[in-house]
Amino acid sequence: MIRLTVNGTAHELEVPSYRTLLDCLRYDLGLTGSKEGCGVGVCGACTVLLDGKMISSCIALAAFADSREVTTVEGLAQDERLHPVQQAFVDAGGFQCGICTPGQVVSAKALLDANPNPSDAEIREWMVGNLCRCTGYYKIIESIRVAAERSRA
Ligand code: FES
Ligand code: FES
Repeated sequence: MIRLTVNGTAHELEVPSYRTLLDCLRYDLGLTGSKEGCGVGVCGACTVLLDGKMISSCIALAAFADSREVTTVEGLAQDERLHPVQQAFVDAGGFQCGICTPGQVVSAKALLDANPNPSDAEIREWMVGNLCRCTGYYKIIESIRVAAERSRA
């Protein structure tokens, strides 16, 4: 039995000890925004925030999130409004496929929470764990730059 808060909602559920946090989110809680790309902690498609810090939920056990707060991509928009990072991904063309984008957006939010004014080099370094197999990185970096600029305006 674990208790966790996901996107502000408290949940109590029974999960097998081997259940990953990603499977718990997707199959127990129906939050399918976080994706399974590689399943081994390499691609970043499953990135969520655990107590505000980004993790690969495919290699974290659900039990690890007991008594903690999880934020998924579904938890970013507020009051029917996209999160500024989501909006910037739409406006600047960073929003490409549905597999890598949720993780890209969650990682970008974590970056701007930690560093509201990142350089391009800092953006590239932070996002190194989020892979896009189509290599559409330029617009992803541009989207993060736009979100950062807007947050300072
Ligand atoms: Fe988790 Fe690739 S699915 S890092
Ligand atoms: Fe998602 Fe390339 S846009 S893998």
